[in-house]
Amino acid sequence: MITKRLILCGFGNVGRAFANLIHERRNDLKKRYGLSLELVAIADIDGAVHCNNEPIPIDTIMAHVEKGGTVETMEKIGRPGMSGIDALTRIEADVLIEATPTNLRDGEPGRSHIMTALDKGLNIVTANKGPLVLYYKEILDLAKTKGCRISMSAATAAALPTLDVGRLCLAGADILSIEGILNGTTNYILTRMREEKCTYDTALKEAQEMGIAETDPTLDVEGYDTRNKLVLITNSLMDQTFGLGDVEVKGITGVRLDDIDEASKKGKVLKLVGTASISDGQISLKVEPKALEMEHPLATVNYSEKGISYLTDTMGQVTVTGGKSSPVGAAAALLKDLIHLTLMAS
Ligand code: HSE
Repeated sequence: MITKRLILCGFGNVGRAFANLIHERRNDLKKRYGLSLELVAIADIDGAVHCNNEPIPIDTIMAHVEKGGTVETMEKIGRPGMSGIDALTRIEADVLIEATPTNLRDGEPGRSHIMTALDKGLNIVTANKGPLVLYYKEILDLAKTKGCRISMSAATAAALPTLDVGRLCLAGADILSIEGILNGTTNYILTRMREEKCTYDTALKEAQEMGIAETDPTLDVEGYDTRNKLVLITNSLMDQTFGLGDVEVKGITGVRLDDIDEASKKGKVLKLVGTASISDGQISLKVEPKALEMEHPLATVNYSEKGISYLTDTMGQVTVTGGKSSPVGAAAALLKDLIHLTLMAS
Protein backbone atom coordinates (compact mmCIF):
# COMPACT_ATOMS: atom_id res chain seq x y z
CA MET A 1 0.00 0.00 0.00
CA ILE A 2 1.34 3.45 -0.91
CA THR A 3 0.32 6.21 1.48
CA LYS A 4 0.24 9.83 0.30
CA ARG A 5 -0.21 12.61 2.83
CA LEU A 6 -2.02 15.60 1.40
CA ILE A 7 -2.35 19.25 2.37
CA LEU A 8 -5.35 20.90 0.73
CA CYS A 9 -5.23 24.68 0.29
CA GLY A 10 -8.57 26.23 -0.62
CA PHE A 11 -11.91 24.92 0.61
CA GLY A 12 -14.43 26.36 -1.85
CA ASN A 13 -16.54 24.32 -4.28
CA VAL A 14 -13.59 22.40 -5.73
CA GLY A 15 -11.73 21.83 -2.44
CA ARG A 16 -14.86 20.49 -0.79
CA ALA A 17 -15.71 18.25 -3.74
CA PHE A 18 -12.17 16.87 -3.60
CA ALA A 19 -12.30 16.13 0.14
CA ASN A 20 -15.65 14.40 -0.35
CA LEU A 21 -14.42 12.38 -3.30
CA ILE A 22 -11.30 10.99 -1.63
CA HIS A 23 -13.34 10.17 1.46
CA GLU A 24 -16.13 8.40 -0.45
CA ARG A 25 -13.65 6.48 -2.65
CA ARG A 26 -11.09 5.62 0.04
CA ASN A 27 -11.72 1.87 -0.03
CA ASP A 28 -11.93 1.75 -3.79
CA LEU A 29 -8.61 3.63 -4.14
CA LYS A 30 -6.94 1.11 -1.84
CA LYS A 31 -8.40 -1.83 -3.70
CA ARG A 32 -7.85 -0.61 -7.26
CA TYR A 33 -4.56 1.27 -6.94
CA GLY A 34 -3.09 0.25 -3.60
CA LEU A 35 -3.30 3.92 -2.70
CA SER A 36 -4.15 5.32 0.69
CA LEU A 37 -4.78 9.09 0.63
CA GLU A 38 -4.52 10.82 3.98
CA LEU A 39 -5.65 14.43 4.24
CA VAL A 40 -3.47 15.92 7.00
CA ALA A 41 -4.52 19.57 6.76
CA ILE A 42 -6.95 21.90 5.05
CA ALA A 43 -6.15 25.61 4.91
CA ASP A 44 -8.80 28.15 3.96
CA ILE A 45 -9.16 31.94 4.12
CA ASP A 46 -9.37 32.44 7.89
CA GLY A 47 -7.53 29.45 9.24
CA ALA A 48 -6.87 25.76 8.97
CA VAL A 49 -7.70 22.39 10.41
CA HIS A 50 -5.08 19.81 11.30
CA CYS A 51 -4.55 17.12 13.85
CA ASN A 52 -0.82 17.08 14.66
CA ASN A 53 0.27 15.12 11.60
CA GLU A 54 -2.58 12.60 11.94
CA PRO A 55 -5.20 12.32 9.13
CA ILE A 56 -8.07 14.69 9.75
CA PRO A 57 -11.66 13.35 9.97
CA ILE A 58 -13.09 14.39 6.59
CA ASP A 59 -16.66 13.30 7.31
CA THR A 60 -16.85 15.31 10.55
CA ILE A 61 -15.38 18.37 8.82
CA MET A 62 -17.80 18.09 5.89
CA ALA A 63 -20.74 17.81 8.29
CA HIS A 64 -19.46 20.92 10.12
CA VAL A 65 -19.09 23.04 6.96
CA GLU A 66 -22.43 21.86 5.57
CA LYS A 67 -24.01 23.43 8.67
CA GLY A 68 -22.27 26.73 7.81
CA GLY A 69 -19.11 26.17 9.85
CA THR A 70 -15.57 26.86 8.69
CA VAL A 71 -12.45 24.73 9.00
CA GLU A 72 -10.84 26.88 11.68
CA THR A 73 -13.93 26.67 13.90
CA MET A 74 -13.73 22.87 14.15
CA GLU A 75 -13.72 21.82 17.77
CA LYS A 76 -10.21 20.94 19.06
CA ILE A 77 -8.54 20.64 15.64
CA GLY A 78 -9.50 24.02 14.09
CA ARG A 79 -6.64 26.57 13.96
CA PRO A 80 -7.92 30.14 13.55
CA GLY A 81 -5.44 32.34 11.70
CA MET A 82 -3.27 29.47 10.49
CA SER A 83 -2.39 30.13 6.84
CA GLY A 84 -1.66 27.72 4.03
CA ILE A 85 2.03 28.63 4.27
CA ASP A 86 1.99 27.89 8.03
CA ALA A 87 0.39 24.51 7.36
CA LEU A 88 2.85 23.66 4.59
CA THR A 89 5.81 24.71 6.73
CA ARG A 90 4.78 22.91 9.93
CA ILE A 91 3.07 19.73 8.76
CA GLU A 92 4.75 16.81 7.02
CA ALA A 93 3.15 15.87 3.71
CA ASP A 94 3.87 14.47 0.25
CA VAL A 95 1.56 16.46 -2.01
CA LEU A 96 0.01 19.93 -2.06
CA ILE A 97 -3.49 20.07 -3.53
CA GLU A 98 -3.86 23.73 -4.58
CA ALA A 99 -7.52 24.74 -4.94
CA THR A 100 -7.52 28.43 -4.01
CA PRO A 101 -9.21 30.77 -6.52
CA THR A 102 -7.39 32.00 -9.62
CA ASN A 103 -5.92 35.44 -9.03
CA LEU A 104 -4.43 37.05 -12.12
CA ARG A 105 -2.91 40.07 -10.34
CA ASP A 106 -0.13 38.34 -8.43
CA GLY A 107 -1.17 34.68 -8.35
CA GLU A 108 -1.54 34.75 -4.55
CA PRO A 109 -2.02 32.96 -2.29
CA GLY A 110 -1.56 30.01 -4.66
CA ARG A 111 1.90 31.09 -5.80
CA SER A 112 3.31 31.16 -2.25
CA HIS A 113 1.66 27.84 -1.45
CA ILE A 114 3.26 26.23 -4.50
CA MET A 115 6.72 27.74 -3.94
CA THR A 116 6.69 26.81 -0.23
CA ALA A 117 5.59 23.27 -1.00
CA LEU A 118 8.23 22.85 -3.73
CA ASP A 119 10.91 24.13 -1.38
CA LYS A 120 9.95 21.34 1.00
CA GLY A 121 10.04 18.76 -1.81
CA LEU A 122 6.28 18.20 -2.15
CA ASN A 123 4.71 17.32 -5.48
CA ILE A 124 1.99 19.69 -6.65
CA VAL A 125 -1.47 18.91 -7.99
CA THR A 126 -3.25 22.13 -8.81
CA ALA A 127 -6.60 23.43 -9.99
CA ASN A 128 -5.40 27.02 -9.73
CA LYS A 129 -4.35 28.66 -13.00
CA GLY A 130 -3.14 32.03 -11.65
CA PRO A 131 0.34 31.01 -10.41
CA LEU A 132 0.94 28.85 -13.48
CA VAL A 133 0.09 31.45 -16.09
CA LEU A 134 1.93 34.25 -14.28
CA TYR A 135 5.03 32.36 -13.07
CA TYR A 136 5.18 29.30 -15.32
CA LYS A 137 8.96 29.23 -15.81
CA GLU A 138 9.82 30.13 -12.22
CA ILE A 139 7.56 27.35 -10.88
CA LEU A 140 8.76 24.74 -13.37
CA ASP A 141 12.41 25.64 -12.74
CA LEU A 142 12.00 25.26 -8.97
CA ALA A 143 10.14 21.97 -9.43
CA LYS A 144 13.00 20.69 -11.61
CA THR A 145 15.65 21.77 -9.10
CA LYS A 146 13.76 20.05 -6.29
CA GLY A 147 12.91 16.94 -8.32
CA CYS A 148 9.18 17.55 -7.84
CA ARG A 149 6.30 17.16 -10.24
CA ILE A 150 3.56 19.62 -11.11
CA SER A 151 0.27 18.20 -12.35
CA MET A 152 -2.28 20.60 -13.76
CA SER A 153 -5.15 18.69 -15.35
CA ALA A 154 -7.63 20.46 -13.08
CA ALA A 155 -6.31 23.83 -14.32
CA THR A 156 -6.48 22.86 -18.00
CA ALA A 157 -10.18 22.02 -18.49
CA ALA A 158 -10.38 19.46 -15.65
CA ALA A 159 -12.73 16.60 -16.58
CA LEU A 160 -11.93 17.15 -20.27
CA PRO A 161 -8.57 15.45 -20.81
CA THR A 162 -6.38 17.95 -22.66
CA LEU A 163 -2.77 17.58 -21.50
CA ASP A 164 -2.96 13.81 -20.99
CA VAL A 165 -4.21 13.33 -24.55
CA GLY A 166 -1.60 15.72 -25.94
CA ARG A 167 1.29 14.20 -24.00
CA LEU A 168 0.46 10.51 -24.02
CA CYS A 169 -1.80 9.83 -26.97
CA LEU A 170 -0.11 12.22 -29.40
CA ALA A 171 3.44 11.37 -28.32
CA GLY A 172 5.80 11.49 -31.30
CA ALA A 173 3.43 13.53 -33.45
CA ASP A 174 3.85 17.24 -34.10
CA ILE A 175 0.88 19.35 -33.05
CA LEU A 176 0.19 21.81 -35.86
CA SER A 177 -2.75 23.61 -34.27
CA ILE A 178 -5.06 23.48 -31.26
CA GLU A 179 -8.69 24.59 -31.11
CA GLY A 180 -10.66 24.35 -27.92
CA ILE A 181 -13.94 25.13 -26.23
CA LEU A 182 -12.26 25.26 -22.86
CA ASN A 183 -14.76 27.09 -20.66
CA GLY A 184 -17.99 25.45 -19.53
CA THR A 185 -19.64 28.63 -18.27
CA THR A 186 -19.51 30.48 -21.59
CA ASN A 187 -20.46 27.37 -23.54
CA TYR A 188 -23.41 26.91 -21.20
CA ILE A 189 -24.51 30.55 -21.70
CA LEU A 190 -24.18 30.40 -25.51
CA THR A 191 -26.04 27.07 -25.67
CA ARG A 192 -28.89 28.29 -23.42
CA MET A 193 -29.21 31.46 -25.52
CA ARG A 194 -29.29 29.46 -28.75
CA GLU A 195 -31.46 26.52 -27.72
CA GLU A 196 -33.92 28.15 -25.31
CA LYS A 197 -33.60 31.85 -26.20
CA CYS A 198 -32.60 32.37 -22.59
CA THR A 199 -31.11 35.79 -21.76
CA TYR A 200 -27.40 36.16 -21.15
CA ASP A 201 -27.93 37.32 -17.53
CA THR A 202 -30.20 34.39 -16.63
CA ALA A 203 -27.85 31.84 -18.17
CA LEU A 204 -24.86 33.33 -16.34
CA LYS A 205 -26.77 33.21 -13.06
CA GLU A 206 -27.57 29.54 -13.68
CA ALA A 207 -23.91 28.78 -14.36
CA GLN A 208 -23.00 30.48 -11.08
CA GLU A 209 -25.64 28.46 -9.23
CA MET A 210 -24.19 25.28 -10.73
CA GLY A 211 -20.84 26.26 -9.16
CA ILE A 212 -18.99 26.24 -12.48
CA ALA A 213 -18.36 29.97 -12.96
CA GLU A 214 -15.15 31.36 -11.53
CA THR A 215 -15.31 33.18 -8.17
CA ASP A 216 -15.01 36.29 -10.38
CA PRO A 217 -17.19 35.39 -13.42
CA THR A 218 -15.56 38.14 -15.49
CA LEU A 219 -12.78 35.60 -15.97
CA ASP A 220 -15.22 33.34 -17.79
CA VAL A 221 -17.27 35.78 -19.86
CA GLU A 222 -14.38 38.02 -20.95
CA GLY A 223 -12.55 34.95 -22.27
CA TYR A 224 -9.73 35.08 -19.72
CA ASP A 225 -10.32 31.56 -18.37
CA THR A 226 -10.17 30.18 -21.91
CA ARG A 227 -7.00 32.21 -22.51
CA ASN A 228 -5.40 30.89 -19.31
CA LYS A 229 -6.08 27.28 -20.26
CA LEU A 230 -4.93 27.85 -23.85
CA VAL A 231 -1.63 29.32 -22.62
CA LEU A 232 -1.00 26.41 -20.26
CA ILE A 233 -1.90 23.78 -22.86
CA THR A 234 0.21 25.42 -25.57
CA ASN A 235 3.19 25.97 -23.27
CA SER A 236 3.08 22.37 -22.05
CA LEU A 237 2.52 20.63 -25.37
CA MET A 238 4.36 22.93 -27.77
CA ASP A 239 7.25 23.75 -25.43
CA GLN A 240 6.56 27.48 -25.30
CA THR A 241 6.67 30.15 -22.60
CA PHE A 242 3.73 32.31 -23.65
CA GLY A 243 2.37 34.81 -21.14
CA LEU A 244 -1.07 36.36 -20.81
CA GLY A 245 -0.14 39.38 -22.94
CA ASP A 246 0.62 37.13 -25.90
CA VAL A 247 -3.03 36.24 -26.51
CA GLU A 248 -5.59 38.29 -28.40
CA VAL A 249 -8.79 37.90 -26.36
CA LYS A 250 -12.44 38.68 -27.05
CA GLY A 251 -15.09 37.24 -24.73
CA ILE A 252 -18.84 36.82 -25.08
CA THR A 253 -20.10 39.93 -23.27
CA GLY A 254 -20.88 41.56 -26.62
CA VAL A 255 -22.77 38.56 -28.03
CA ARG A 256 -26.50 39.20 -28.57
CA LEU A 257 -29.34 36.79 -29.38
CA ASP A 258 -29.35 38.36 -32.87
CA ASP A 259 -25.74 37.27 -33.44
CA ILE A 260 -26.64 33.73 -32.44
CA ASP A 261 -29.73 33.71 -34.69
CA GLU A 262 -27.70 35.16 -37.56
CA ALA A 263 -25.19 32.29 -37.25
CA SER A 264 -28.05 29.75 -37.05
CA LYS A 265 -29.61 31.10 -40.26
CA LYS A 266 -26.30 30.42 -42.01
CA GLY A 267 -26.27 26.88 -40.60
CA LYS A 268 -23.53 27.75 -38.11
CA VAL A 269 -23.17 27.83 -34.36
CA LEU A 270 -21.45 30.48 -32.25
CA LYS A 271 -18.85 29.17 -29.78
CA LEU A 272 -16.09 30.76 -27.71
CA VAL A 273 -12.98 29.16 -29.17
CA GLY A 274 -9.34 29.33 -28.11
CA THR A 275 -6.91 28.72 -30.95
CA ALA A 276 -3.17 28.14 -31.22
CA SER A 277 -2.14 28.19 -34.85
CA ILE A 278 1.16 28.27 -36.70
CA SER A 279 1.87 30.55 -39.63
CA ASP A 280 5.37 31.04 -41.10
CA GLY A 281 6.78 29.07 -38.17
CA GLN A 282 5.22 31.46 -35.63
CA ILE A 283 2.60 30.28 -33.13
CA SER A 284 -0.20 32.74 -32.46
CA LEU A 285 -2.86 32.48 -29.77
CA LYS A 286 -6.38 33.85 -29.96
CA VAL A 287 -9.66 33.61 -28.05
CA GLU A 288 -12.85 34.78 -29.76
CA PRO A 289 -16.50 33.89 -30.43
CA LYS A 290 -16.46 31.97 -33.72
CA ALA A 291 -19.31 30.85 -35.99
CA LEU A 292 -18.48 27.17 -36.58
CA GLU A 293 -19.82 25.12 -39.48
CA MET A 294 -21.99 22.26 -38.17
CA GLU A 295 -19.41 19.78 -39.54
CA HIS A 296 -16.72 21.25 -37.28
CA PRO A 297 -15.78 18.69 -34.57
CA LEU A 298 -16.54 21.21 -31.81
CA ALA A 299 -19.88 22.43 -33.20
CA THR A 300 -21.98 19.95 -31.22
CA VAL A 301 -20.25 20.49 -27.88
CA ASN A 302 -23.08 21.95 -25.82
CA TYR A 303 -23.97 23.33 -22.38
CA SER A 304 -21.20 22.91 -19.81
CA GLU A 305 -19.29 20.35 -21.86
CA LYS A 306 -16.01 21.31 -23.48
CA GLY A 307 -13.84 20.05 -26.29
CA ILE A 308 -10.34 20.18 -27.75
CA SER A 309 -9.22 19.38 -31.25
CA TYR A 310 -5.56 18.83 -32.14
CA LEU A 311 -4.34 18.88 -35.72
CA THR A 312 -1.22 16.74 -35.98
CA ASP A 313 1.21 15.85 -38.75
CA THR A 314 1.04 12.06 -38.41
CA MET A 315 -2.28 11.33 -36.68
CA GLY A 316 -4.50 13.82 -38.49
CA GLN A 317 -7.15 15.57 -36.44
CA VAL A 318 -7.78 14.20 -32.96
CA THR A 319 -10.72 15.60 -31.00
CA VAL A 320 -11.90 14.92 -27.47
CA THR A 321 -15.21 16.26 -26.22
CA GLY A 322 -17.26 16.06 -23.04
CA GLY A 323 -15.79 16.55 -19.59
CA LYS A 324 -18.45 18.89 -18.22
CA SER A 325 -17.29 21.73 -16.00
CA SER A 326 -18.39 21.03 -12.45
CA PRO A 327 -16.82 21.04 -8.99
CA VAL A 328 -16.93 17.23 -8.97
CA GLY A 329 -15.29 17.12 -12.41
CA ALA A 330 -12.50 19.40 -11.19
CA ALA A 331 -12.09 17.27 -8.06
CA ALA A 332 -11.97 14.14 -10.21
CA ALA A 333 -9.21 15.72 -12.32
CA LEU A 334 -7.21 16.41 -9.14
CA LEU A 335 -7.70 12.79 -8.10
CA LYS A 336 -6.70 11.51 -11.56
CA ASP A 337 -3.45 13.49 -11.39
CA LEU A 338 -2.75 12.15 -7.91
CA ILE A 339 -3.25 8.58 -9.06
CA HIS A 340 -1.02 9.11 -12.11
CA LEU A 341 1.63 10.81 -9.99
CA THR A 342 1.70 7.86 -7.64
CA LEU A 343 1.51 5.05 -10.19
CA MET A 344 4.11 6.58 -12.50
CA ALA A 345 6.53 7.09 -9.63
CA SER A 346 6.15 3.57 -8.29
N1 HSE B 1 -15.08 28.42 -14.77
C1 HSE B 1 -14.57 27.28 -15.46
C2 HSE B 1 -15.55 26.83 -16.51
C3 HSE B 1 -14.31 26.12 -14.54
O1 HSE B 1 -16.64 27.40 -16.60
O2 HSE B 1 -15.22 25.93 -17.27
C4 HSE B 1 -12.94 26.18 -13.96
O3 HSE B 1 -11.94 26.21 -14.94
